[in-house]
Amino acid sequence: MAADGAEASVAAGDEGSAEARLAAKLDAKAAAKAKPVESAEVAIRVQGVTKTFGLKNAVDDLSLVIHAGSVFGLIGPNGAGKTTTFSMMAGYLNPSSGSIDVLGFSPDRVEDLRGKLGVLPQDALLPANDRVGEFLVDMARLQGIASKDATRRAKDALEEVDGQTWWGVRCGALSHGMAKRVQLAQALLGDPKVVLLDEPTAGLDPRIAYEVRQIIKGRKGRCTLVVSSHNLSELEEVCDAAAILDRGRLMASGTMSELTAATEEVRFKVPPLPAGPILGAPEGAAKPPMEAIRELPMVTIAEYDDERGELIVHFDRSKPDVDAELVIGAVLWILVQQRVRISGVTKGRGLEQRVMDLTDKP
Ligand SMILES: Nc1ncnc2c1ncn2[C@@H]1O[C@H](COP(=O)(O)OP(=O)(O)OP(=O)(O)O)[C@@H](O)[C@H]1O
Ligand SMILES: [Mg+2]
Repeated sequence: MAADGAEASVAAGDEGSAEARLAAKLDAKAAAKAKPVESAEVAIRVQGVTKTFGLKNAVDDLSLVIHAGSVFGLIGPNGAGKTTTFSMMAGYLNPSSGSIDVLGFSPDRVEDLRGKLGVLPQDALLPANDRVGEFLVDMARLQGIASKDATRRAKDALEEVDGQTWWGVRCGALSHGMAKRVQLAQALLGDPKVVLLDEPTAGLDPRIAYEVRQIIKGRKGRCTLVVSSHNLSELEEVCDAAAILDRGRLMASGTMSELTAATEEVRFKVPPLPAGPILGAPEGAAKPPMEAIRELPMVTIAEYDDERGELIVHFDRSKPDVDAELVIGAVLWILVQQRVRISGVTKGRGLEQRVMDLTDKP
C-alpha cells in the first residue's frame, strides 16, 4: 500500500490545531444529516472492486458484504490483496473501479467517518520521538474526541491493550510487540463502529496474541471488526465469517461454518495400524468398521483415508435434529465398541485445509 496510504495518513496529521473546532463543526453537520447508518445491518459493502498497480490487479473484481456487529476475516497468502483491500476500506487508496461503502459512506468521506472508523495498518510506524500518551491523545483529538476527554480515552485504550505503564515511554523505545499494541490502542480509541485490523497479532508473543484475541472477541456485537492473519486457527476462533482471497480474486466467502463445512461433515483422526504383522499395535486395536458407520441413518458418505489416518463422515443436516454433535456421538460409540484408537475429532475440514485447497495451485 504504501505510497498512497502514507500520503493519506500525513494529510490527516496535517490538520493541526484547528482540529477541535473543525471536529465540533463536522459533528454538528453530521448530526444535522442524521443518517441512521449505524443501525444498518450491513456495515461494509464492497462491490466489484478492482485495484490496479501498473499492469497488475492487486484486487480483482472483489465483492463482499460484512454484517454489522460481526468479526470478519480476510484470509489469503502473501500478495493476495488483503492489505490493498484494507487500504481501500480505510480510504487510504481509491479503487480503480467498483465501489466501497462503510457505514453508508464512501471511505474517502473522512469527515463523515471521523470517530466511526478505527484502523490498524499492517506496517504502521509510530512517531519515534513522541511519548506513547502524547501520541494517543493526538490521535484521539484527530478522531474528533473533545480535548477534555482525550486523555481519559487515550488511557482507557492503552489499558485495554495492557500497556498502562508505557504512557511516558518514547514510541521509538518500544519493542515490536509493544508498538503493535499501541497501534491497536490507537485503532480502538473512542469506540469506533468499524475497526480494521490488518495482522493485529503478527509478531506478538503467544500470551499477548491470546489477549488480543480476547479483546477482539470482547468487542463482537459492539462494533464491526475486519481482521487479517496468517494464523488460521486464530481466525477460525474469532471470526463469524470470512473471505478467502488469492491473487486479488475472491475464492470463497461465507460464515465460518460454511467455509469449513462444519455443518456437513465430521472428521475423526484414526491413526493407521502399522503394516505387516501388527507389531506394537495395542491388543484388539481395529480399523474403523465402515459398514456399520455407513448404516447410520443420518450418514450420507463415510470414507477412510488410510494415508492421512482420517475417517471422514458426511451427514444429512436437513433431517430433523441431525447435527454434527449427534453424528460425533453415534460414530464414536461404534468406534469405541470396536476398540478403534481415536486421536481427535473435528467438525468440518478446518479452515487451514480449506484455504490450502483453494489457494495452493501455482
Ligand atoms: N503500492 C503498490 N505498488 C505496486 N504494487 C503493489 C502496491 N501495493 C501492493 N502491491 C501488489 O499488490 C499485490 C497485493 O498486495 P497486498 O499487500 O495487498 O497483499 P497481502 O494479501 O496484504 O499480502 P501479505 O500477506 O504479504 O501482507 C501484491 O502483488 C503486491 O506486490
Ligand atoms: Mg498485507
